[in-house]
Amino acid sequence: MTASQIIQKHISFFEKRGHKRISNSPLVPENDPTTLFTSSGMQPLVPYLLGEPHPQGKRLANVQNCFRAQDIDEAGDNRHTTFFRMLGNWSLGDYFKKEQLPWFFEFLTKELGLSAKKLYVSVFEGYQNIPRDEESETIWKGLFEGAGIDPEGRIFYYSAEKNWWSRAGEPEKMPSGEPGGPDSEVFYEFDVKHDLKYGKKCHPNCQCGKFMEIGNSVFMQYQKKGDGAFVQLPQRNVDFGGGLERLLAAVENQNDIFQTTLFNSIVRAIELTTGKSYRNNSRLMRIVTDHFVAAAFIAASGVAPSNKEQGYILRRLIRRGLDNFYQLEGKEITPILELIVEEYKETNLYLVEKFEKIKGVLLEEEEAYKKTLHQAKRYIEKKYRGKQIGDELKGVTEVSSDDAFTLYTTHGLSPTQIKSLGYTFDEQAFAEKMKAHQEVSRKGMVKKFHGGLADHQEKTIRGHTATHLLHQAIRDVLGKHVHQTGSNITTDRIRFDFNYDKKVIDEELKKIEEIVNQKIKENLAVHFEILPTEEAKKVGAIGLFEDTYQDKSKIYFIGGSTSSPQDAYSVEFCGGPHVDFTGRLKRFKIIKQENIGRGQRRIYAALEN
Ligand code: ALA
Repeated sequence: MTASQIIQKHISFFEKRGHKRISNSPLVPENDPTTLFTSSGMQPLVPYLLGEPHPQGKRLANVQNCFRAQDIDEAGDNRHTTFFRMLGNWSLGDYFKKEQLPWFFEFLTKELGLSAKKLYVSVFEGYQNIPRDEESETIWKGLFEGAGIDPEGRIFYYSAEKNWWSRAGEPEKMPSGEPGGPDSEVFYEFDVKHDLKYGKKCHPNCQCGKFMEIGNSVFMQYQKKGDGAFVQLPQRNVDFGGGLERLLAAVENQNDIFQTTLFNSIVRAIELTTGKSYRNNSRLMRIVTDHFVAAAFIAASGVAPSNKEQGYILRRLIRRGLDNFYQLEGKEITPILELIVEEYKETNLYLVEKFEKIKGVLLEEEEAYKKTLHQAKRYIEKKYRGKQIGDELKGVTEVSSDDAFTLYTTHGLSPTQIKSLGYTFDEQAFAEKMKAHQEVSRKGMVKKFHGGLADHQEKTIRGHTATHLLHQAIRDVLGKHVHQTGSNITTDRIRFDFNYDKKVIDEELKKIEEIVNQKIKENLAVHFEILPTEEAKKVGAIGLFEDTYQDKSKIYFIGGSTSSPQDAYSVEFCGGPHVDFTGRLKRFKIIKQENIGRGQRRIYAALEN
């Protein structure tokens, strides 16, 4: 069974149970300033988990490309990757535990043919006023017994640290407004010995590699409030996510995901181009594989390496991938990229179209990196010229921790990269400088995330409605060929991108601003309707409409309605949420415009409080 076949089985299993397939959302999310990448299937569904109706109904399923930057340092073991595909199914206030757990069990044992004897599960132990999940325990007991297996020793209770899920993690870490809930995970047991290094006794959440988590059913029924207390959401949701790479590992009973049929051709390409064996170099080759796969997907999303946000992560992935590749004495990365596209094209055909672009981004960054390494070396050589600088015979140069730190801050080299250039330094002193430096950037991050993860605050909702007015006003003034290409809203400002290859002149900008303020003054009603997608297009709905599976769409009207579309100022495909009347926006002001390249411009604007 291939990875693509597992995807097909998952989709058709849930379609048979009344689910609608939804599209894979972009890896770089739209309208979500709180996160750089889509890191789980539920992320684009937050408004619907909080109660907004979804045009496709209450049962959804898909496969979502995900990237988790926080796992970058975990890559290298048998099961972690930064990029992965997540199989998902959701109940938006519809079915709950007694459907979800049996379905997943049936999917694993009947559709994927896994032996129930290899499965172990975890359930939530309780937290403050949120009870222990005995209901899930009872359901799992029945399922194991039904399969002729003694449930004793199969069901494990864990605390909120392991069995609670929200985008921010454990309950204490959640900002106010964020939804979350207890979860129940399923683990697959491999035929390998427990590694005592990880503790006396093995258990599903042990890190030794004997057990691998293959799916997580989150019972998303709570929301954190401002005072830190948890209340029930208006609806009880199920948010399921299962890592495709790991499900494949279980199907193949192969505890190293890099040796499954999904990755082994890529690994083989690395072996061929480096002349080294995976057996003796597994850690390096896993990092190269993971980082180049992730870099290929991120580059295909239109991100370019840089020193901030998504671009910074892409740069780190490529450079860290290259470090490991060079350690393998690898020279040419193109054959690896070719194999990556080959392996993923069945589910992500656009990688084929974008191959030249992906290759260009990675090769250019490789050049830039080589230059940086060269400059870093020159910096050190110049500084230490004529001085006694350590044991040069061994090819090692001892440099001061200050200089090593300069290589980090101005040349962007990590301690490992500095060492790989042949420099040693006082690592303790370096670590202290790094800590002080990180404290400064952490403060910056806290500020950036101040809006709160859920970010369904009044101010961002108002900003969202303002972008619809702005989009229409831009089209009124600049022409109907102009459309939105991206947007990003925080509590402080609205950022809006559109295709326009010249500067918007001041009078036009002023006119756009005036129209938006006029529409605010008219206090138009804002409402949505769920329409067959074809009909929505007929009433002239504009917007970023990408979901190829969606036969019904949610359309927001500002003024007017389907029966009187001529009265509407704006009709747009959108998930919401929005304010009910435009008057709530008070006043709109354009702050500046920028050229963002590729024939696109960006407007920054803000609303009065
Ligand atoms: N959202 C849940 C996860 O990512 C399913 O594990």
